[in-house]
Amino acid sequence: MDEKKISVKQLQEMLNKSQDVFILDVRPTDQREEWRIAESTHVDAYKRLNSGDNSVLNEVNIPHSVPVVTVCAVGRTSLIASEVLREKGIEAYSLDGGMKAWNYAWNKAEINFQSGLKIIQVRRPAKGVLSYIVGSANEAIVVDAALEPEVYQQLAKENGWKIKYVTDTHIHADYVSRTKELASVIGSQHLMINNATVEYSFRPVADQEVICVGNSKLQFFNTPGHTLESMTVKVDDVAIITGDTLFIDGIGRPDLKANEGEAIIKSKQLHHSLSILLSLSDSLLVLPAHTSKTVSFDGKLIGESLAVLKDKLDLLKLSEKEFVKHTLSRIPPTPPNYLTIATLNRKGSYEGQQLADLEAGGNHCAIA
Ligand SMILES: [Fe+2]
Repeated sequence: MDEKKISVKQLQEMLNKSQDVFILDVRPTDQREEWRIAESTHVDAYKRLNSGDNSVLNEVNIPHSVPVVTVCAVGRTSLIASEVLREKGIEAYSLDGGMKAWNYAWNKAEINFQSGLKIIQVRRPAKGVLSYIVGSANEAIVVDAALEPEVYQQLAKENGWKIKYVTDTHIHADYVSRTKELASVIGSQHLMINNATVEYSFRPVADQEVICVGNSKLQFFNTPGHTLESMTVKVDDVAIITGDTLFIDGIGRPDLKANEGEAIIKSKQLHHSLSILLSLSDSLLVLPAHTSKTVSFDGKLIGESLAVLKDKLDLLKLSEKEFVKHTLSRIPPTPPNYLTIATLNRKGSYEGQQLADLEAGGNHCAIA
Protein backbone atom coordinates (compact mmCIF):
# COMPACT_ATOMS: atom_id res chain seq x y z
CA MET A 1 0.00 0.00 0.00
CA ASP A 2 1.24 3.48 -0.63
CA GLU A 3 0.55 5.99 2.08
CA LYS A 4 -2.88 6.96 0.92
CA LYS A 5 -4.15 4.40 -1.57
CA ILE A 6 -4.81 0.69 -1.79
CA SER A 7 -4.99 -1.17 -5.10
CA VAL A 8 -7.79 -3.52 -6.18
CA LYS A 9 -5.37 -6.46 -5.96
CA GLN A 10 -4.38 -5.56 -2.39
CA LEU A 11 -7.97 -5.21 -1.18
CA GLN A 12 -8.94 -8.41 -3.01
CA GLU A 13 -6.13 -10.23 -1.22
CA MET A 14 -7.18 -8.88 2.17
CA LEU A 15 -10.76 -10.08 1.61
CA ASN A 16 -9.55 -13.44 0.31
CA LYS A 17 -7.51 -13.89 3.49
CA SER A 18 -10.43 -12.69 5.66
CA GLN A 19 -8.23 -9.94 7.08
CA ASP A 20 -9.94 -7.28 9.15
CA VAL A 21 -10.86 -4.26 7.06
CA PHE A 22 -13.67 -1.72 7.23
CA ILE A 23 -14.77 -0.69 3.74
CA LEU A 24 -16.60 2.62 3.58
CA ASP A 25 -18.53 3.41 0.39
CA VAL A 26 -19.04 7.19 0.14
CA ARG A 27 -20.92 7.33 -3.19
CA PRO A 28 -24.43 8.72 -3.72
CA THR A 29 -27.19 6.21 -2.91
CA ASP A 30 -28.28 5.71 -6.54
CA GLN A 31 -24.77 4.64 -7.52
CA ARG A 32 -24.61 2.32 -4.53
CA GLU A 33 -27.86 0.69 -5.61
CA GLU A 34 -26.42 0.03 -9.07
CA TRP A 35 -23.41 -1.94 -7.76
CA ARG A 36 -21.37 -2.20 -4.63
CA ILE A 37 -18.81 -4.16 -2.63
CA ALA A 38 -20.71 -6.73 -0.55
CA GLU A 39 -18.47 -6.27 2.49
CA SER A 40 -18.83 -2.46 2.55
CA THR A 41 -20.76 0.01 4.71
CA HIS A 42 -22.42 2.95 3.00
CA VAL A 43 -22.73 6.62 3.79
CA ASP A 44 -24.04 9.02 1.15
CA ALA A 45 -21.20 11.50 1.60
CA TYR A 46 -20.36 12.48 -1.96
CA LYS A 47 -21.94 15.94 -2.06
CA ARG A 48 -21.00 16.98 1.44
CA LEU A 49 -17.36 15.86 1.17
CA ASN A 50 -17.01 17.66 -2.14
CA SER A 51 -18.45 20.83 -0.65
CA GLY A 52 -16.01 20.72 2.24
CA ASP A 53 -18.46 19.40 4.86
CA ASN A 54 -16.44 16.64 6.49
CA SER A 55 -18.86 16.19 9.40
CA VAL A 56 -20.79 13.66 7.30
CA LEU A 57 -18.23 11.03 8.26
CA ASN A 58 -19.16 11.51 11.92
CA GLU A 59 -22.50 9.91 11.07
CA VAL A 60 -20.89 6.49 10.60
CA ASN A 61 -19.56 4.35 13.38
CA ILE A 62 -16.05 3.74 12.03
CA PRO A 63 -13.78 1.42 14.00
CA HIS A 64 -10.38 2.77 14.99
CA SER A 65 -8.82 -0.67 15.42
CA VAL A 66 -8.83 -1.93 11.81
CA PRO A 67 -7.69 -0.40 8.51
CA VAL A 68 -10.40 1.53 6.68
CA VAL A 69 -10.71 1.54 2.89
CA THR A 70 -12.81 4.30 1.37
CA VAL A 71 -14.51 3.75 -1.98
CA CYS A 72 -16.19 5.98 -4.57
CA ALA A 73 -16.80 5.76 -8.32
CA VAL A 74 -13.28 6.45 -9.58
CA GLY A 75 -11.18 7.14 -6.48
CA ARG A 76 -11.30 10.93 -6.05
CA THR A 77 -13.93 11.58 -3.38
CA SER A 78 -12.71 8.50 -1.52
CA LEU A 79 -9.30 10.15 -1.31
CA ILE A 80 -10.88 13.14 0.45
CA ALA A 81 -12.68 10.74 2.80
CA SER A 82 -9.52 8.82 3.64
CA GLU A 83 -7.68 12.05 4.38
CA VAL A 84 -10.42 13.21 6.73
CA LEU A 85 -10.23 9.87 8.56
CA ARG A 86 -6.43 10.02 8.76
CA GLU A 87 -6.68 13.42 10.41
CA LYS A 88 -8.73 11.70 13.08
CA GLY A 89 -5.96 9.16 13.62
CA ILE A 90 -7.60 6.33 11.67
CA GLU A 91 -5.49 4.16 9.34
CA ALA A 92 -7.37 4.87 6.11
CA TYR A 93 -6.71 4.25 2.43
CA SER A 94 -8.59 5.18 -0.70
CA LEU A 95 -9.39 2.38 -3.19
CA ASP A 96 -7.36 3.35 -6.24
CA GLY A 97 -9.62 3.67 -9.30
CA GLY A 98 -12.81 3.22 -7.24
CA MET A 99 -15.65 0.94 -8.39
CA LYS A 100 -14.55 1.26 -12.00
CA ALA A 101 -11.34 -0.55 -11.08
CA TRP A 102 -13.06 -2.89 -8.62
CA ASN A 103 -15.06 -4.25 -11.55
CA TYR A 104 -12.01 -6.45 -12.26
CA ALA A 105 -11.59 -7.85 -8.77
CA TRP A 106 -12.33 -11.56 -8.64
CA ASN A 107 -12.67 -14.47 -6.30
CA LYS A 108 -13.53 -18.12 -6.65
CA ALA A 109 -15.59 -20.97 -5.25
CA GLU A 110 -15.14 -24.60 -6.16
CA ILE A 111 -16.83 -27.94 -6.00
CA ASN A 112 -15.20 -31.37 -6.19
CA PHE A 113 -16.95 -34.53 -7.29
CA GLN A 114 -16.08 -38.13 -6.46
CA SER A 115 -15.15 -38.83 -10.07
CA GLY A 116 -12.24 -36.39 -9.79
CA LEU A 117 -14.16 -33.73 -11.68
CA LYS A 118 -13.72 -30.23 -10.29
CA ILE A 119 -15.64 -27.09 -11.22
CA ILE A 120 -14.22 -23.71 -10.24
CA GLN A 121 -16.57 -20.76 -10.35
CA VAL A 122 -14.58 -17.60 -11.08
CA ARG A 123 -16.54 -14.51 -10.03
CA ARG A 124 -16.33 -10.80 -10.64
CA PRO A 125 -18.08 -9.72 -7.43
CA ALA A 126 -19.01 -6.15 -8.41
CA LYS A 127 -20.95 -7.04 -11.52
CA GLY A 128 -21.94 -10.57 -10.55
CA VAL A 129 -20.28 -12.08 -13.62
CA LEU A 130 -19.59 -15.81 -13.26
CA SER A 131 -17.23 -17.84 -15.41
CA TYR A 132 -16.13 -21.44 -15.01
CA ILE A 133 -13.15 -23.69 -15.37
CA VAL A 134 -14.13 -27.35 -15.46
CA GLY A 135 -11.30 -29.81 -14.98
CA SER A 136 -11.03 -33.57 -15.12
CA ALA A 137 -7.86 -35.69 -15.08
CA ASN A 138 -5.29 -33.37 -16.69
CA GLU A 139 -7.62 -31.40 -18.97
CA ALA A 140 -9.95 -28.44 -18.59
CA ILE A 141 -12.42 -26.24 -20.41
CA VAL A 142 -13.05 -22.57 -19.63
CA VAL A 143 -16.61 -21.31 -20.08
CA ASP A 144 -17.45 -17.59 -20.43
CA ALA A 145 -14.00 -16.19 -19.65
CA ALA A 146 -14.53 -12.70 -18.23
CA LEU A 147 -11.10 -11.89 -16.87
CA GLU A 148 -7.60 -11.67 -18.28
CA PRO A 149 -6.18 -14.98 -19.57
CA GLU A 150 -3.60 -15.18 -16.76
CA VAL A 151 -6.36 -15.80 -14.19
CA TYR A 152 -7.52 -18.99 -15.93
CA GLN A 153 -3.98 -20.04 -16.83
CA GLN A 154 -2.96 -19.78 -13.18
CA LEU A 155 -5.97 -21.77 -11.96
CA ALA A 156 -5.28 -24.46 -14.56
CA LYS A 157 -1.63 -24.60 -13.52
CA GLU A 158 -2.51 -24.94 -9.83
CA ASN A 159 -4.71 -27.92 -10.68
CA GLY A 160 -2.40 -29.60 -13.18
CA TRP A 161 -4.81 -29.01 -16.08
CA LYS A 162 -4.15 -28.18 -19.70
CA ILE A 163 -6.91 -25.94 -21.03
CA LYS A 164 -8.05 -28.00 -24.01
CA TYR A 165 -11.17 -26.01 -24.89
CA VAL A 166 -12.71 -22.60 -24.33
CA THR A 167 -16.27 -21.55 -25.08
CA ASP A 168 -18.93 -18.92 -24.46
CA THR A 169 -22.50 -19.83 -23.60
CA HIS A 170 -23.59 -17.03 -25.94
CA ILE A 171 -22.56 -13.70 -27.42
CA HIS A 172 -22.56 -11.57 -24.29
CA ALA A 173 -23.93 -8.04 -24.32
CA ASP A 174 -23.03 -6.88 -20.83
CA TYR A 175 -19.32 -7.59 -20.61
CA VAL A 176 -16.50 -8.10 -23.05
CA SER A 177 -15.74 -11.80 -23.34
CA ARG A 178 -12.09 -12.76 -22.96
CA THR A 179 -12.66 -16.23 -24.45
CA LYS A 180 -11.25 -15.52 -27.89
CA GLU A 181 -8.20 -13.87 -26.33
CA LEU A 182 -7.70 -16.84 -24.01
CA ALA A 183 -7.91 -19.26 -26.95
CA SER A 184 -5.27 -17.23 -28.82
CA VAL A 185 -2.92 -16.98 -25.85
CA ILE A 186 -2.96 -20.68 -24.96
CA GLY A 187 -3.75 -22.22 -28.33
CA SER A 188 -6.80 -24.13 -27.16
CA GLN A 189 -9.80 -24.98 -29.35
CA HIS A 190 -12.58 -22.41 -29.36
CA LEU A 191 -15.95 -24.15 -29.32
CA MET A 192 -19.22 -22.40 -30.13
CA ILE A 193 -22.66 -23.74 -30.92
CA ASN A 194 -22.92 -24.14 -34.70
CA ASN A 195 -25.45 -21.34 -35.24
CA ALA A 196 -23.28 -18.66 -33.56
CA THR A 197 -23.02 -15.61 -35.81
CA VAL A 198 -19.50 -14.56 -34.87
CA GLU A 199 -16.86 -13.16 -37.21
CA TYR A 200 -13.98 -15.37 -36.06
CA SER A 201 -13.40 -19.02 -36.80
CA PHE A 202 -14.36 -21.60 -34.21
CA ARG A 203 -14.90 -25.32 -33.86
CA PRO A 204 -18.68 -25.72 -34.19
CA VAL A 205 -20.60 -28.03 -31.87
CA ALA A 206 -24.02 -29.35 -32.78
CA ASP A 207 -27.04 -29.37 -30.49
CA GLN A 208 -26.63 -32.24 -27.98
CA GLU A 209 -23.08 -33.03 -29.13
CA VAL A 210 -20.82 -34.53 -26.50
CA ILE A 211 -17.21 -33.40 -25.98
CA CYS A 212 -14.76 -35.16 -23.65
CA VAL A 213 -12.62 -33.26 -21.18
CA GLY A 214 -10.38 -35.63 -19.23
CA ASN A 215 -12.69 -38.36 -17.93
CA SER A 216 -15.76 -36.13 -18.10
CA LYS A 217 -18.39 -35.78 -20.77
CA LEU A 218 -19.79 -32.36 -21.62
CA GLN A 219 -23.00 -32.19 -23.62
CA PHE A 220 -23.92 -28.97 -25.42
CA PHE A 221 -27.58 -28.00 -25.74
CA ASN A 222 -28.71 -25.14 -27.93
CA THR A 223 -31.11 -23.24 -25.64
CA PRO A 224 -32.22 -20.15 -27.62
CA GLY A 225 -34.34 -17.37 -26.19
CA HIS A 226 -31.99 -15.00 -24.38
CA THR A 227 -30.08 -15.03 -27.67
CA LEU A 228 -30.39 -17.34 -30.66
CA GLU A 229 -27.04 -19.05 -30.10
CA SER A 230 -27.44 -19.44 -26.33
CA MET A 231 -26.34 -22.82 -25.09
CA THR A 232 -26.27 -24.82 -21.92
CA VAL A 233 -23.42 -27.17 -21.10
CA LYS A 234 -24.25 -30.32 -19.15
CA VAL A 235 -21.23 -31.56 -17.21
CA ASP A 236 -21.46 -35.32 -16.71
CA ASP A 237 -24.68 -35.94 -14.79
CA VAL A 238 -23.86 -33.43 -12.09
CA ALA A 239 -24.21 -29.85 -13.35
CA ILE A 240 -25.52 -27.60 -16.09
CA ILE A 241 -23.78 -24.35 -16.98
CA THR A 242 -26.77 -22.34 -18.14
CA GLY A 243 -25.33 -19.01 -19.31
CA ASP A 244 -28.07 -16.36 -19.28
CA THR A 245 -30.88 -18.85 -19.91
CA LEU A 246 -31.55 -19.85 -16.30
CA PHE A 247 -30.33 -18.09 -13.17
CA ILE A 248 -30.79 -19.15 -9.56
CA ASP A 249 -33.23 -16.28 -9.02
CA GLY A 250 -34.81 -15.82 -12.43
CA ILE A 251 -34.45 -16.30 -16.16
CA GLY A 252 -32.63 -14.49 -18.96
CA ARG A 253 -34.14 -11.53 -20.76
CA PRO A 254 -35.33 -12.15 -24.34
CA ASP A 255 -35.62 -8.54 -25.45
CA LEU A 256 -32.16 -7.19 -26.27
CA LYS A 257 -31.72 -6.22 -29.93
CA ALA A 258 -35.34 -7.23 -30.52
CA ASN A 259 -38.45 -5.31 -31.48
CA GLU A 260 -41.70 -6.25 -29.79
CA GLY A 261 -42.58 -8.98 -32.31
CA GLU A 262 -39.12 -10.51 -32.10
CA ALA A 263 -39.18 -10.34 -28.32
CA ILE A 264 -42.37 -12.42 -28.32
CA ILE A 265 -40.73 -15.02 -30.57
CA LYS A 266 -37.60 -15.09 -28.41
CA SER A 267 -39.72 -15.36 -25.29
CA LYS A 268 -41.46 -18.43 -26.75
CA GLN A 269 -38.07 -19.91 -27.63
CA LEU A 270 -36.92 -19.30 -24.07
CA HIS A 271 -39.98 -21.04 -22.68
CA HIS A 272 -39.23 -24.06 -24.88
CA SER A 273 -35.52 -24.06 -23.97
CA LEU A 274 -36.36 -23.92 -20.27
CA SER A 275 -38.75 -26.85 -20.69
CA ILE A 276 -35.84 -28.87 -22.14
CA LEU A 277 -33.68 -28.01 -19.13
CA LEU A 278 -36.49 -28.80 -16.71
CA SER A 279 -36.82 -32.25 -18.26
CA LEU A 280 -33.25 -33.08 -17.20
CA SER A 281 -32.39 -34.70 -13.89
CA ASP A 282 -33.62 -32.81 -10.81
CA SER A 283 -30.30 -33.33 -9.07
CA LEU A 284 -28.31 -31.28 -11.61
CA LEU A 285 -26.57 -28.26 -10.14
CA VAL A 286 -27.51 -25.11 -12.08
CA LEU A 287 -24.51 -22.83 -12.58
CA PRO A 288 -25.46 -19.53 -14.27
CA ALA A 289 -23.38 -16.84 -15.99
CA HIS A 290 -24.58 -14.08 -13.66
CA THR A 291 -26.00 -13.39 -10.27
CA SER A 292 -28.04 -10.31 -9.48
CA LYS A 293 -26.58 -10.22 -5.97
CA THR A 294 -23.16 -8.78 -5.18
CA VAL A 295 -20.79 -11.69 -4.67
CA SER A 296 -19.10 -12.01 -1.29
CA PHE A 297 -15.60 -13.28 -0.65
CA ASP A 298 -17.06 -16.29 1.12
CA GLY A 299 -16.01 -19.15 -1.16
CA LYS A 300 -19.65 -20.25 -1.42
CA LEU A 301 -20.63 -21.53 -4.84
CA ILE A 302 -23.48 -19.67 -6.50
CA GLY A 303 -25.68 -22.48 -7.75
CA GLU A 304 -28.83 -24.36 -6.97
CA SER A 305 -30.22 -27.76 -7.88
CA LEU A 306 -32.77 -27.92 -10.66
CA ALA A 307 -35.23 -29.40 -8.15
CA VAL A 308 -34.96 -26.34 -5.91
CA LEU A 309 -35.37 -23.95 -8.83
CA LYS A 310 -38.42 -25.82 -10.10
CA ASP A 311 -39.97 -25.30 -6.71
CA LYS A 312 -38.74 -21.76 -6.11
CA LEU A 313 -39.23 -20.00 -9.45
CA ASP A 314 -42.89 -19.52 -10.27
CA LEU A 315 -41.91 -18.37 -13.76
CA LEU A 316 -40.91 -21.93 -14.56
CA LYS A 317 -44.44 -23.14 -13.85
CA LEU A 318 -46.18 -20.90 -16.39
CA SER A 319 -47.77 -21.95 -19.68
CA GLU A 320 -46.15 -20.49 -22.79
CA LYS A 321 -48.82 -17.81 -23.07
CA GLU A 322 -48.54 -16.76 -19.42
CA PHE A 323 -44.74 -16.91 -19.63
CA VAL A 324 -44.54 -14.55 -22.62
CA LYS A 325 -46.92 -12.07 -21.00
CA HIS A 326 -45.11 -12.14 -17.67
CA THR A 327 -41.63 -11.96 -19.17
CA LEU A 328 -42.33 -9.03 -21.44
CA SER A 329 -43.99 -7.08 -18.65
CA ARG A 330 -40.94 -7.35 -16.40
CA ILE A 331 -38.06 -6.32 -18.62
CA PRO A 332 -35.27 -4.67 -16.55
CA PRO A 333 -33.42 -1.50 -17.66
CA THR A 334 -31.31 -1.99 -20.77
CA PRO A 335 -27.61 -2.44 -19.91
CA PRO A 336 -25.39 0.46 -20.98
CA ASN A 337 -23.27 -0.01 -24.11
CA TYR A 338 -24.83 -3.40 -24.88
CA LEU A 339 -24.78 -2.91 -28.65
CA THR A 340 -21.11 -1.93 -28.64
CA ILE A 341 -20.20 -4.80 -26.34
CA ALA A 342 -22.15 -7.38 -28.39
CA THR A 343 -20.49 -6.09 -31.57
CA LEU A 344 -17.03 -6.47 -30.02
CA ASN A 345 -17.87 -9.97 -28.81
CA ARG A 346 -19.13 -10.92 -32.24
CA LYS A 347 -15.85 -9.66 -33.68
CA GLY A 348 -13.77 -11.36 -30.99
CA SER A 349 -11.56 -8.31 -30.52
CA TYR A 350 -11.71 -5.29 -28.25
CA GLU A 351 -8.63 -3.57 -29.63
CA GLY A 352 -8.65 0.19 -29.05
CA GLN A 353 -11.45 -0.01 -26.45
CA GLN A 354 -11.36 1.00 -22.79
CA LEU A 355 -12.98 -2.02 -21.14
CA ALA A 356 -13.36 -0.29 -17.77
CA ASP A 357 -15.46 2.47 -19.38
CA LEU A 358 -17.57 0.09 -21.45
CA GLU A 359 -18.30 -2.34 -18.65
CA ALA A 360 -18.90 -0.02 -15.71
CA GLY A 361 -22.13 -0.59 -13.76
CA GLY A 362 -24.14 -3.51 -12.41
CA ASN A 363 -25.77 -6.20 -14.53
CA HIS A 364 -29.36 -6.17 -15.79
CA CYS A 365 -29.63 -9.71 -17.04
CA ALA A 366 -32.37 -11.40 -15.08
CA ILE A 367 -36.14 -11.36 -15.04
CA ALA A 368 -37.51 -12.58 -11.72
FE1 LIG B 1 -26.32 -12.40 -21.89
